[in-house]
Amino acid sequence: FADDGYRLWLKYDLIKNQQERENYARLTKFIVANVQGEIAKTASSELQLGLKGLLGKSVPVVATSKSTGGIIFQLSENKDLNEEGYSIKNQNGNIVINANTEKGILYGTFELLRSIQTGKSLTNISIISNPKIQYRMLNHWDNPLGTIERGYAGSSLWKWYELPENIDPRYKDYARANASIGINATVVNNVNASARFMTKEYLLKVKALADVFRPYGIKVFLSINFAAPKILKGAKTSDPLDPQVRAWWQAKTQEIYSIIPDFGGYLVKANSEGEPGPQDFGRTHADGANMLAEALKPYTGVVIWRAFVYKPSSKDDPKGDRYKEAYKDFKPLDGQFDKKVIVQVKNGPIDFQPREPFHPLFGAMPKTPLAMEFQITQEYLGFTTNLVYLAPLFKECLESDTYVKGKGSTVAKVVDGSLHNYQLTAIAGVANTGSDRNWTGHFMSQANWYAFGRLAWNHELSSEQIANEWVKMTLSHEVKTVKTVTKLLMESRENYVNFTTPLGLHHIMGQGIHFGPEPWLMKSDRSDWASAYYHRADTLGIGFDRTKNGSEALLLYTPEVQNQWNDPAKTPLPYLLWFHHVAWKTKLSTGNTLWDELCTRYYTGLASVKEMRKAWNTVKPNIDKEIFEDVAGRLAVQEREAVWWRDACVLYFQQYSKMPIPAQFPKPERS
Ligand code: GCU
Repeated sequence: FADDGYRLWLKYDLIKNQQERENYARLTKFIVANVQGEIAKTASSELQLGLKGLLGKSVPVVATSKSTGGIIFQLSENKDLNEEGYSIKNQNGNIVINANTEKGILYGTFELLRSIQTGKSLTNISIISNPKIQYRMLNHWDNPLGTIERGYAGSSLWKWYELPENIDPRYKDYARANASIGINATVVNNVNASARFMTKEYLLKVKALADVFRPYGIKVFLSINFAAPKILKGAKTSDPLDPQVRAWWQAKTQEIYSIIPDFGGYLVKANSEGEPGPQDFGRTHADGANMLAEALKPYTGVVIWRAFVYKPSSKDDPKGDRYKEAYKDFKPLDGQFDKKVIVQVKNGPIDFQPREPFHPLFGAMPKTPLAMEFQITQEYLGFTTNLVYLAPLFKECLESDTYVKGKGSTVAKVVDGSLHNYQLTAIAGVANTGSDRNWTGHFMSQANWYAFGRLAWNHELSSEQIANEWVKMTLSHEVKTVKTVTKLLMESRENYVNFTTPLGLHHIMGQGIHFGPEPWLMKSDRSDWASAYYHRADTLGIGFDRTKNGSEALLLYTPEVQNQWNDPAKTPLPYLLWFHHVAWKTKLSTGNTLWDELCTRYYTGLASVKEMRKAWNTVKPNIDKEIFEDVAGRLAVQEREAVWWRDACVLYFQQYSKMPIPAQFPKPERS
């Protein structure tokens, strides 16, 4: 069969170099797996599977080690490790994976396999690793009919109509892939949730998935429809303070736990984009979340309440700005949420743009655990025709300094709980998986799923290190190939920003679909969906003034952060038009006028896609033919789209700037 990418980073192909194989074989002669439980069992069978592939030999599981050169699972109390952490050491000639729980053993096993997959020596192996965040989750925006909101890699992995009787073997492969990168939770349905998931019929289907995921240490969560009590005719209203409604949720939660005893909890999108919520009844987000927390009280589950809210009404306010709305709704509620509630905040204040400043809520709610929500699926980043490696985007946000407790108060420290001493911590990625053979549509987008998991475990890993690992595990070990593809990945996001939304432009994609350019959109059924609302181009200049002279969104941040972005002359160019309306002829730090710089970014953005194609062609001899061709084809499409973006934006904005395209650039191909 063609190598079409189905095996992801768990290929386990035979290591080509015999010497290398023999070196590994000396330390992998047997496995002692005297740890009880189905998760530990997963670990030993995965280890056998991996070693069989990588080294070409069957490694037996034995009861006790009589000699050296084996792998030993060891459960013991280790104060350096948390519940899921592990250590791997070469102790007296055996590789010992030590952990406090069988989950730690599982993650240690995958680390050991990764060490072999990436060519590291085991002789002096000494690793200690603890996840920094407790809930490392995927959010699937999958609908009961099998479609995926903002999914571009086929339809849903979950075959609801076949469940619970028929178990697609792919569910297990999905669980393996996630466990291998430390993901321990999954929300299987869309945040725009159908109440149907609360029916017994669907709960039994969800249970069937939970049963497959459990041996991989993965808990299942459900998105709920806040109006479920009324929709399912269990109550006359869905008002969270109504006793009948509270009783309904308590009974429903009890039912869920009787079916799925380790159920993870609820994810809630409320009073956002038309979804029902507590505000429909004059109640607050805290009232809604606390009602669910009360229902979950007897169980281990938690409530994850999303902060992605905004209302079209802001258009009537002269200082109205979608940027500020989640902050306005949530900040006053800090301290009012039950201990079981986590508030999930998108990385940026608008909506998963190619570049956004960090969300002003991070650092602003010390008494409420805030979870990070990233988007792995490329809704605004070119679907599956654009190669965009997202680790640099994730890292940029995590490393941003909120300054709320002085220098070094990074977003990462908010999310991992260390800054405000949160008792619950979580990070979510909106999944990019689907029924396509290679899971993610664009083969290279597998790297984004991988990178999300690795960073969720340890946000201190560098984007480059993760890219490097991924390339070795999925593509090739050949030195030049690893270097070339790592570089390609590392530069891809900035290239994409340049040919789509340079200098801080945002939300000028096609309306609704969020694909391709549509900067000319002046009006929409909601003003805050129209491009003109965001770019504000006129004869004077372009950009959204969010300073005290404008919408004042910048005032939501600490003075130190305001200082970074306050003065247009000092604002770093990537953020310039996020915060300022800048005159076309303003001279920028590059020496160009704003107009010339804008054109330069669109033109060099396109040129960089041509370079990406050239770079990819050089690695052809070292990459599986099918994968090579698939990526090459998509890069060709990406080039066509970069021309489309450049021409559309340069020609559209030129109507306002009335300035010529700099002479060194050719004329747009379209008109
Ligand atoms: C974006 C996206 C929607 C999604 C929403 C959300 O607006 O386009 O499809 O439902 O985010 O995160 O709730």
